[in-house]
Amino acid sequence: MSWLKKLALVTAFVLVPTTLAQPWGELVIYSGRSEPLIVPVIQLFQQQTGIRVTLQSGAATALANLILQEQPNPRADLFIANDAGTLEFLKLKDALQPYISEQIRKIPEQFRARDGSWLGVSGRSRVIMYNTKLLRPEELPKSVFELGDPRWKGKIAMATTRNESVIAWMTALRLVKGDAFTKEYLLKLKANGIVTLNGHTDVRKAVGRGEFALGLVNHYYYHLELRDGSPVGVIYPDQGPTDTGVLVNVAGAALIKNAKHVREAQRFLDFLAAPEAQKLFAELNFEYPLLPGVPTAPGVRALETIKRMPIRLDELGKELEKTLKLLDEVGLG
Ligand SMILES: [Fe+2]
Repeated sequence: MSWLKKLALVTAFVLVPTTLAQPWGELVIYSGRSEPLIVPVIQLFQQQTGIRVTLQSGAATALANLILQEQPNPRADLFIANDAGTLEFLKLKDALQPYISEQIRKIPEQFRARDGSWLGVSGRSRVIMYNTKLLRPEELPKSVFELGDPRWKGKIAMATTRNESVIAWMTALRLVKGDAFTKEYLLKLKANGIVTLNGHTDVRKAVGRGEFALGLVNHYYYHLELRDGSPVGVIYPDQGPTDTGVLVNVAGAALIKNAKHVREAQRFLDFLAAPEAQKLFAELNFEYPLLPGVPTAPGVRALETIKRMPIRLDELGKELEKTLKLLDEVGLG
């Protein structure tokens, strides 16, 4: 063999491995999740993969709009939101690209977009929290539909109907119970003087202080208020055999269309769907891991024990406008 041929062979051997295993690049994430709830997850990912992550945190709706503006040349590769509706909004605007892998398929289909556009990472259910000094166990409501009863007049707080979790819940009610029923129910809540506060943190604190007997919240607000030492309990409503169940919404993540670091973003999505990150991501906020078999934080009810509304989260997005119109008509605030 001539020295030239030998050199060609050596060169080939040197080149082949580097083309097969391209070095990992960086990853840019826009996140609507509060930083203490996402930074530990990103740190674990960086440790495991060596991929450098740049995080920009902010209000989910503002970041979603930024993602739209930046198309077709986005700065971020991946978006994290606290509600399926925000992810679905971007999907309907054609600002996401699908990704499904073997690991992602292990997350139940109900909690991700049918076409792979977004992935649910942790679950949160709509519950009623109550003040244990104001209500005895036998007085507790078993259904959200009891809250229109005059005996609850002036005793209930909820977050503003501009809140994504509240809007998603009302859309779910419309899909399960129909438009006419939902409108009538919301009018009853209004007639009962239900108070809408700025956000769920205000609701949990007001119930904790005893200003309201009941609060409509996502379940982790109950756990946060309990951790603060307040006398609060939680009701998972509508759990009977013929009842509607509760809405389980998700915090989730999505790969942005035209992202510059697609492989890194896909690796992050796989990481989020795997047991270690599932446990960490969910536990940071008392949420439910969505990967079957991963335990909830101590004291948090297991997702498998909860009767859930029979709807897919990716059905909520296209219903959004109708719900907003209904809320306008009802005028709940
Ligand atoms: Fe929240």
